[in-house]
Amino acid sequence: MSDNNKRPESMERITTPELAQAFIDEQVKALREQIGDGNVLLALSGGVDSSVVAALLIKAVGKQLTCIHVNHGLMRKGESEQVIEVFRNQLGANLIYIDATDRFLDKLAGVSDPEQKRKIIGGEFIEVFDEEAAKLENIGFLGQGTIYPDILESDGIKAHHNVGGLPEEVKLELVEPVKLLFKDEVRVVGHELGLPDSMVYRQPFPGPGLGVRCVGAITRDRLAALRESDAILREEFEKAGLAGKVWQYFTVVPDFKSTGIKDGKRAWEWPAIIRAVNTKDAMTATIEHVDWEVLDKITKRITSEVPGINRVLYDLTPKPTGTIEFE
Ligand code: XMP
Repeated sequence: MSDNNKRPESMERITTPELAQAFIDEQVKALREQIGDGNVLLALSGGVDSSVVAALLIKAVGKQLTCIHVNHGLMRKGESEQVIEVFRNQLGANLIYIDATDRFLDKLAGVSDPEQKRKIIGGEFIEVFDEEAAKLENIGFLGQGTIYPDILESDGIKAHHNVGGLPEEVKLELVEPVKLLFKDEVRVVGHELGLPDSMVYRQPFPGPGLGVRCVGAITRDRLAALRESDAILREEFEKAGLAGKVWQYFTVVPDFKSTGIKDGKRAWEWPAIIRAVNTKDAMTATIEHVDWEVLDKITKRITSEVPGINRVLYDLTPKPTGTIEFE
């Protein structure tokens, strides 16, 4: 590991607004020095790390930053809208929004193998990003949301699952302002930068997004049912005070149907499976014991509000033997 990528032992853990502010001031200065009058490009997913890097860069170099947000059609409900609202409307960033939903879903049509799905999503993402980047001129720098655990365990969960990275031919100087921070510190800095809590304290969300929760070959109608059921789950967890407490919670919609009854008629529809787990490092996980009333309310809402879903199941499996995601 190069010295540049090593966290000095003297570096204090950023736990307070004052320490976050000091870090922000220091980074803004360092970013201005590094970038000068150059231009920076950043892939902005809306995840905590890239969002904090974007906010720091906007503060440091303003319009010299261009963010590209690629909507692969596998985002959760309202996520791309939030990226546009926060970064373009509130922070005034140069933000290129690409709705590549059709492109991704067309490529994924009929593909049921999980690793193949991940490869397609990762590969397509790079292509779309690359095409957009090629239209821009005078870009010398590439912003990245690398954080310290990514450096410490380059074979960690992120690297293990996500295919690709940026193409070899993109020879840009990297700008990685949070690379020496741990996740909790990135969150404190993001909060101090004024990013909304729903962005800063959000649960982990995999790169391939809802794609790994729409089990098997993705179809648009099942994906829509997944997105809606997930939104209801998140809303009810928020109301029940579970959102900040449970490490990861989501719904999964598998590709099988069962008989049910809706409005007095036979309904041949999918189930929505709820997964709610707690973990320290994602290597093992335990199940959240959600109150029966909360589950009951979620079940009633999902089965009555989401077209195509007639049952709700709760996954009781810890990791191992179940992985956190279904694919
Ligand atoms: P598993 O399913 O392996 O998940 O128990 C462990 C953690 O990793 C996340 N995960 C992913 N993250 N790309 C990512 O960026 C992926 O392809 C991917 N697959 C799983 C998962 O959400 C959980 O937090």
